[in-house]
Amino acid sequence: MEREKYYITTPIYYPSDKLHIGHSYCTVATDAMARYKRLRGYDVMFLTGTDEHGQKIERIAEKQGMSPKAYTDKIVVGIKELWKTLNISYDKFIRTTDDYHIKAVQKIFKQLYDQGDIYKSAYEGWYCTPCESFFTEHQLVDGKCPDCGRSVEMVKEESYFFRLSKYQDRIIQYMEQNPEFLQPNTRQNEMINNFLKPGLEDLAVSRTSFQWGIPVEFDPGHIVYVWIDALSNYITALGYGSDDDSLFKKYWPANVHVVGKEIVRFHSIIWPAMLMALDIPLPKQIFGHGWLVINGGKMSKSVGNVVDPNVLVDKYGVDAIRYFLLREIAFGQDGNFNNEALIQRINSDLANDLGNLVSRTVGMIEKYFGGQLPEKQGGTDFDADLEKVATQTTEKVEAAMEKMLFSDALIELWNLIRRTNKYIDETQPWILIKEEDKHPDLAAALYHVAESIRIISVLIQPFMPNTPELIWKQLGITDEALKTWDSTKQWGLLSKTLKVEKGAVIFPRIDMKKELEELELAIKASQSTSIANQAKEEEKAQEAKSADEPEIPEEITIEDFIKVQLKVGEVIASETVKKSKKLLRNQVKIGEEVRVIFSGISPWYTPEEMVGKKVIVAYNLKPRKMMGELSYGMILAADDENGNLSLLTTDKADFPSGSEVG
Ligand code: MSP
Repeated sequence: MEREKYYITTPIYYPSDKLHIGHSYCTVATDAMARYKRLRGYDVMFLTGTDEHGQKIERIAEKQGMSPKAYTDKIVVGIKELWKTLNISYDKFIRTTDDYHIKAVQKIFKQLYDQGDIYKSAYEGWYCTPCESFFTEHQLVDGKCPDCGRSVEMVKEESYFFRLSKYQDRIIQYMEQNPEFLQPNTRQNEMINNFLKPGLEDLAVSRTSFQWGIPVEFDPGHIVYVWIDALSNYITALGYGSDDDSLFKKYWPANVHVVGKEIVRFHSIIWPAMLMALDIPLPKQIFGHGWLVINGGKMSKSVGNVVDPNVLVDKYGVDAIRYFLLREIAFGQDGNFNNEALIQRINSDLANDLGNLVSRTVGMIEKYFGGQLPEKQGGTDFDADLEKVATQTTEKVEAAMEKMLFSDALIELWNLIRRTNKYIDETQPWILIKEEDKHPDLAAALYHVAESIRIISVLIQPFMPNTPELIWKQLGITDEALKTWDSTKQWGLLSKTLKVEKGAVIFPRIDMKKELEELELAIKASQSTSIANQAKEEEKAQEAKSADEPEIPEEITIEDFIKVQLKVGEVIASETVKKSKKLLRNQVKIGEEVRVIFSGISPWYTPEEMVGKKVIVAYNLKPRKMMGELSYGMILAADDENGNLSLLTTDKADFPSGSEVG
């Protein structure tokens, strides 16, 4: 019988930098779903990849003195390594610089042009380079990008346009008739009310002001807008537009595109419109997940708060990190990352509940029966309840997984783990061992616990792919039939003459206080190394550039000026710096964040005078190494003709830190 198909995708990532734990969340979640479906017998196609064109990549590559392709080649290696480290079981990895993709996108663009869905005109409007998005004046929020809050640039150029407006009513109708299309539901209302109902404007789909993109074949000065290029990946990866589109015929329409909330708009409006124009069925679902945030703010390189997943995996192992991500964040909502919560979860859920359950069970079978359960067994009063909870867990996990509620699925699984631990406390094997005639009951109790662990070990496979093997080894489970998903729905499959072998502790307990300090240092070190490496590369590229660099103009435009982000900060600590007469090392609180900023104001301000002062900070200045440490920004001061300094501050002394200046 032919197996049911399941096509699932992650967004394709911008190789603009090393990916952080936030990016990993999206991919781990998609991976858990793909693994779950495979275990349920589906023929799964799991796609991920990289989105390599666009002005942002072009600029970064230029800064580093490399061609964009050489630059993305380098970053893609790291991305693939990260997915390997995180045990991501993708079936295909697409790069938008792949030849077949480029050709197929050119074909799609030409077809849309030939049939009149794309036409030539001129564009004038606002462009956010980091998001690669166009906005009209009224879409901006306080003059900034509505998606990421960063500055936008005025762009004026000849452009091809896609008739997005033509599809507006069909998309609204489709969403209303298919309430499952965009999940969670709240995102659907947001799209309909905020974007579709107010009216869609045609979309500029080509650029002429930079080079790094797929050329429009029939008009060489133009390159294809990066989102048209990127969204097409979901079908070009399957061979759409090539000589062999058998995978496309087999797997399309996709079951689900998993995407972060800030790119839901592209996936639920532009992508459906493109597919409607191409007369291709729409994906069955777009799932918009929330962000992993740090102290309420988005992780970002410029803030300097990104967490490198490699550091975490090195310290705690991949399964612990996958578990944390999937358990801590309710899918669809934002979740907070913090070191304490991570260690807490590892200690309580993994070391105490799961790890301890396995080691105490194997330990007791070894101690009481020399590692081998006797065949003849009795039964205890607590058996029926454990059997019921165990065999019902699968159904509950399935119900949660079908809705992509990973956290709920894990809660169900941990209910079974805790129930099994409680069963041990109820049956009290250490008392049963003392009376000879109770030994059959003891064997029955330990059999029950072992069978429950077998069910748990099979059900945790999608979330923690390495741990089941470790458990099976200790319980002596080799028969593949005992590891299938369906086998968890049946109680008592484990051989009655079980032979166990104690192994290493699966999840060692962590000393919270000691570990917190170490982890903090490791994360900080990785942040500094990554910033320092980038600075070094940019410096090298700068040196390599010829001396005929244009001079800084005497006049700058408002677009130049708004690139400088100024914020109000409050100095919460300040100290003199050994070996420097001028420098003070300040800790400045800017909103929720605390930064170290050095400033050369020591003769004019003492550390005591600094503390409590509201200062103005050049916030998005590249971090600089000063006195062996990175300084994150600059405190602004006025400088008179004698070189005396006076700090800039806010007129109202109680004005909140973190406020924007400008
Ligand atoms: N290239 C586009 C996607 C094109 S898909 C046709 C893109 N790339 S991205 O690298 O910026 O982001 C990829 C995914 O990572 C997005 O879904 C984004 O939401 C997700 N995340 C980036 N930072 C994140 C967090 N801090 N938390 C959770 N997900 C995050 O967008």
